[in-house]
Amino acid sequence: MKALILVGGYGTRLRPLTLTKPKPLVEFCNKPMVLHQIEALAQVGVTHVILAVSYLSDMLQREMEVEAKRLNIKITISQETEPLGTAGPLALARELLDSDNGPFFVLNSDVICEFPFNDMIKFHKEHACEGTIVKIQKMSRKYLFKVTKVDEPSKYGVVVYEKNTGKIDRFVEKPREYVSNKINAGLYIFNSAILNRIELRPTSIEKEIFPAMAADKQLYAFELQGFWMDVGQPKDYLTGMSMYLNYVRHSSSDRLSRENGIVGNVLVDPTAKIGERCRIGPNVVIGPRVIIQDGVCLKNCTILGDSLIKSHSWIANCIIGWRCNIGQWVRMENTSVLGLDVSVQDELFVNGGIILPHKAISESISEPKILI
Ligand code: GDD
Ligand code: MG
Repeated sequence: MKALILVGGYGTRLRPLTLTKPKPLVEFCNKPMVLHQIEALAQVGVTHVILAVSYLSDMLQREMEVEAKRLNIKITISQETEPLGTAGPLALARELLDSDNGPFFVLNSDVICEFPFNDMIKFHKEHACEGTIVKIQKMSRKYLFKVTKVDEPSKYGVVVYEKNTGKIDRFVEKPREYVSNKINAGLYIFNSAILNRIELRPTSIEKEIFPAMAADKQLYAFELQGFWMDVGQPKDYLTGMSMYLNYVRHSSSDRLSRENGIVGNVLVDPTAKIGERCRIGPNVVIGPRVIIQDGVCLKNCTILGDSLIKSHSWIANCIIGWRCNIGQWVRMENTSVLGLDVSVQDELFVNGGIILPHKAISESISEPKILI
């Protein structure tokens, strides 16, 4: 079976991380984002993955060659000369997708969950129509972090469907008024017949193709169990991280750290070093070769590879990029995101700072702002 992943553009909403690394290679819970999907696809027998990109990246090309060998699959990069939206890339890759006439997966690249690919295949075969999309049910607050709670259906596409069969009657992308709380998870299986609906031009699958398929009774909804998050923006990335760590706790808890000073769910790369009397967690991911000095407190944050956090710093709800150098007694909070190789002087306060790569911060940032 084949799969096309909609990788898209420059990942502007994840800047400054995506200024130095293409979004699919930005690590989420110590693994490049797109690898969470590619590995899960390979596990259910997908042998050819097409990455639909609207920009050229040598770094992506090189990394994907390595991963293709490791996973013993084929990975092709399908590059657009202009962004083709969420449907146009299928037309561009038509020959690749069409070659074996069978159904194929299409995925948004920025979603994270327990990918239910086998169950999707089974469901798709049962209804025998053109398309299956995965939907998530809005959940009550008490299930937060167990299953997904979606507060704002207007950020997503939503579906109205027949409860017994899953047949979709309506698909509305980013509704202005309330339509439904069942949202599109961005994971699909299509028969090659869908390709006859898509022309080679910028096209939105959600706005132009799904409504037509629903009208023709060719689109079905499969319900996702467990957690789900679109991690394409810093705040959601951190929420998705907590959900993923909770999932690891329940599925393979030995991957989580149990050292002294660890609180709740914490994932630490084996090459990272943590000092004495630290308080790490809950919900922290520490990347390869990171050094955390004594007495540091970290909550709800990701520290990417090769960074140094000096003693007695306090960091909550932040993403620290690669090779950063955070001084002693620094306090950082409120979805601050640091790009590659940022340094922060001792004793500073950083509140909601978005800091571009290679910047040296020598004054506190007391209100959220972008530092270029
Ligand atoms: N190749 C390519 N070319 N990919 C693209 C393009 C393009 O021109 N534009 C967007 N993409 C990719 C994005 O990188 C992402 O992986 C996916 O298509 C969806 O685009 P987003 O920009 O992330 O859309 P969204 O998050 O606002 O909404 C989509 O995802 C929601 C779930 O997270 C929709 O599919 C919604 O219906 C859905 O609920
Ligand atoms: Mg998205």
